[in-house]
Amino acid sequence: MARKRKFLKLFIGAIIGLVVTSLLKNNSKMRDNLCSLDYEVYDAADTVNDRLTNDTVNDSFLLVGVMTAQKYVNTRAKAVYETWGKNTPGKILFFSSENSRSDHVPLVPLPKIDDNYPPQKKSFAMLKYMHDNYIDDYEWFLRADDDLYIRTDRLQKLLQSVDSNKAWFIGQAGRGKPQEMGLLALQKNENYCMGGPGIILSRETLKRIVPHIDDCLQHLYSTHEDVELGRCVKKFAGVSCTWAYEMQTIFYHNQTNDAFSGSLKQKYIHNAITMHPIKDPQNMYRLHNYIKGQKIQHNYQEAITLHRDISSSMSYFGVEPGSLINSELIEDLPLYPEPPGSEYFLGDPELLGSPNSLNRFNYKTIADVLEWELIAKSLYSYKDFNPKKRIGSSLKEGLSDIVREVMEITNSNANQRGRMIEFKELLYAYWRLDPVHGADLILDMSLLYKKYTGNKMTVPVRRHLYVQQTFTGISIKELSNDESVIQEDNFVKGVFSKIGQSLQIPLIFNNNSREIINFILPLSGRFETFKRFIKVYENVCINEEESTRLLIVLYKDDNELEEFNNNLNLIKLTQEKYPKHELYYKIVTEAFSRGRALQYGLDMCQNEDLLFFIDVDIVFNRLSLQRIRLNTVKHKQIYFPIVYSLYSPKFLNESEDNSVFVELNLDNRKGFWRQFGFGIASIFKCDFVTLGGFNTSIAGWGVEDVIFFESAIKSDFKIIRSVDPHLVHIYHSIKCDNNLEEAQKNMCIGTKANILGSLYDVQNFYLKYKHLFS
Ligand SMILES: *[C@@H]1O[C@H](CO)[C@@H](O)[C@H](O)[C@H]1NC(C)=O
Ligand SMILES: *[C@@H]1O[C@H](CO)[C@@H](O)[C@H](O)[C@H]1NC(C)=O
Ligand SMILES: *[C@@H]1O[C@H](CO)[C@@H](O)[C@H](O)[C@H]1NC(C)=O
Ligand SMILES: *[C@@H]1O[C@H](CO)[C@@H](O)[C@H](O)[C@H]1NC(C)=O
Ligand SMILES: *[C@@H]1O[C@H](CO)[C@@H](O)[C@H](O)[C@H]1NC(C)=O
Ligand SMILES: *[C@@H]1O[C@H](CO)[C@@H](O)[C@H](O)[C@H]1NC(C)=O
Repeated sequence: MARKRKFLKLFIGAIIGLVVTSLLKNNSKMRDNLCSLDYEVYDAADTVNDRLTNDTVNDSFLLVGVMTAQKYVNTRAKAVYETWGKNTPGKILFFSSENSRSDHVPLVPLPKIDDNYPPQKKSFAMLKYMHDNYIDDYEWFLRADDDLYIRTDRLQKLLQSVDSNKAWFIGQAGRGKPQEMGLLALQKNENYCMGGPGIILSRETLKRIVPHIDDCLQHLYSTHEDVELGRCVKKFAGVSCTWAYEMQTIFYHNQTNDAFSGSLKQKYIHNAITMHPIKDPQNMYRLHNYIKGQKIQHNYQEAITLHRDISSSMSYFGVEPGSLINSELIEDLPLYPEPPGSEYFLGDPELLGSPNSLNRFNYKTIADVLEWELIAKSLYSYKDFNPKKRIGSSLKEGLSDIVREVMEITNSNANQRGRMIEFKELLYAYWRLDPVHGADLILDMSLLYKKYTGNKMTVPVRRHLYVQQTFTGISIKELSNDESVIQEDNFVKGVFSKIGQSLQIPLIFNNNSREIINFILPLSGRFETFKRFIKVYENVCINEEESTRLLIVLYKDDNELEEFNNNLNLIKLTQEKYPKHELYYKIVTEAFSRGRALQYGLDMCQNEDLLFFIDVDIVFNRLSLQRIRLNTVKHKQIYFPIVYSLYSPKFLNESEDNSVFVELNLDNRKGFWRQFGFGIASIFKCDFVTLGGFNTSIAGWGVEDVIFFESAIKSDFKIIRSVDPHLVHIYHSIKCDNNLEEAQKNMCIGTKANILGSLYDVQNFYLKYKHLFS
């Protein structure tokens, strides 16, 4: 079923929502040795068979007997029954002591059996029960513990390839620990199937041993239940436990504490059919969800492959991808029976059926060209002003997922090949993301090629790997049990109906457009700027009848009495002009502290109020207000907008009159995103209190906002940190106090220069006035 191709095509599923395809190019001296890799194409016949086998469980295939005890019936046994137990291709029963009872699992209390350890009697009694009641109903019989996880679909596939009419004894073979040698009374070459990872008996095996169970129980040589079962099977069924190297991987046992509680993205988890031991039921559910996620990815991958097949087959009939959706196989038999938007829509054939190729993007103009970013020790990106930065954790994890999956596929039939390819390191990678199709990657990998049959050898090789990840579409899930969740927006609806499947992303929207926003503004001096602020506030909030409140915390500094008086007068004038609008102020005479100022503003609010911390330099419009309401959700979510900060207008030869905020054309010479400012934020008062508020003992314009942001990140709240193009910080010059310490002074001057103008303009300025800088 393998087809030889020039390029090796590997089809792999990747991080959720993405599906990966890769083209591996052989281009070195190792070609001859590696060209067998060329055969490693996607096994289409396999998938076809998968599809033909009806997913409904054949209920006469397998009977699973799980040994448990009364104290685990409602914990471990329940977890087994609610996870993989549900998918048993046949029946699952739980066996426990005589007095055990359960409302959660189908339980068989075995007469005259207790929960003592070792459970030899329980094990044999269970097998006898399975035999006496079900021997003619099932082909296979599995003895499991209650701390075992089984991937039932894989197990079914494995057993289907074995003739159940013969005597089989399948599991991970053991010969006892070295210190037990001789104590188990095993003959040379005698083994047993280890109990932990599960033991499988064919119908024939069970038939042969059950009449002799009493005999076996009377001749116990050790306290190990599995050893004794093995001895009994050997003696009366004449078979040993399957000897095969892979059984260690397939029937997987790992006693390490974090084997199934830490990261599940592990080779041993991906390769196993049974996993043992999972003592904590929570880990059982967790593992089950993970495996289900893997399966979903696998299905996505298959869907993509099928869409591609359809698309390429239909091209022989002259059907273009664009008209696939309306085409018919024969008259009145549409290829896509359900229209887009329907629950059973099969997905966009144009998107999902586009073939994998590094040239899938058809560039028409230079502007369309999708640039690559380089990932080496750091990330080098054209997207960022910063030419070189740390590789973020999501990118790192994505890369290691891809590498792991590529290696899994490359080694999937390593045994037939007699070779194994080991991953050593990723030397560098290129990647680019197309928002419609998905991501492309070029990986430069250092590998170790190990041939262990014929001419044995180990050779380091370097390979280029081309990987393509295809988007499968998005779906949106509405959280109906949450009052604050609405999605009415036409845009969202459009997305909803366009894509019929895939990921579920919970959306949290705050729908209340009349929620009052409480502006809290600390003010000390700065009368000219305050005039502008009031003008903006008047235009945006008062004249538009927005539901807002303005709370000003006004500092009185004896050295700036005139400024204070002007500010106070303006407040009073505005109050008189708009007697209905809620505008309040509080005069504070102590030394300025932003944290304390905001606290005073807070004190004027009710517990359930929505607060917006703002500075006098900021201008805004109604869209910013919308975003504040949308992104701040009581008890759930806090909004920390990133404001756009304008450079000095003087430096740019622009008029300084920013008194009225006009729609800005953001560009990199006008200003920059203030990534390190956290002072502008919106939050509900009760949530602010829960988080412990600001540290009010910090004086001046301080780090209180950074500290608060850090504690918010560590909390259970969801943080929305995003640019807001309509929150704009207008330039004002900084005064650097000459009395500052050298380091602090330099920092201040640095900041001063940074906000003056773009690198481009500062450079031109310098070149022009170079002679003055000598
Ligand atoms: C699977 O097989 C069962 C029993 O033969 C049948 O009732 C069911 O419709 C089949 N399901 C599918 C999806 O073919
Ligand atoms: C189910 O298993 C039984 C027992 O081996 C077998 O005879 C039957 O053909 C199977 N049925 C299906 C639909 O696979
Ligand atoms: C057992 O699990 C630990 C922890 O995840 C892992 O480091 C180790 O490699 C595993 N052992 C085997 C033999 O797979
Ligand atoms: C918001 O909720 C109101 C009722 O509370 C409803 O009439 C309105 O359509 C909703 N708006 C949006 C955008 O969801
Ligand atoms: C601003 O105007 C001055 C004088 O006309 C000129 O020399 C300077 O280059 C201008 N600066 C910018 C950034 O355009
Ligand atoms: C608040 O800030 C002061 C001064 O920086 C510091 O000494 C104190 O430990 C902080 N308090 C808390 C609760 O973090």
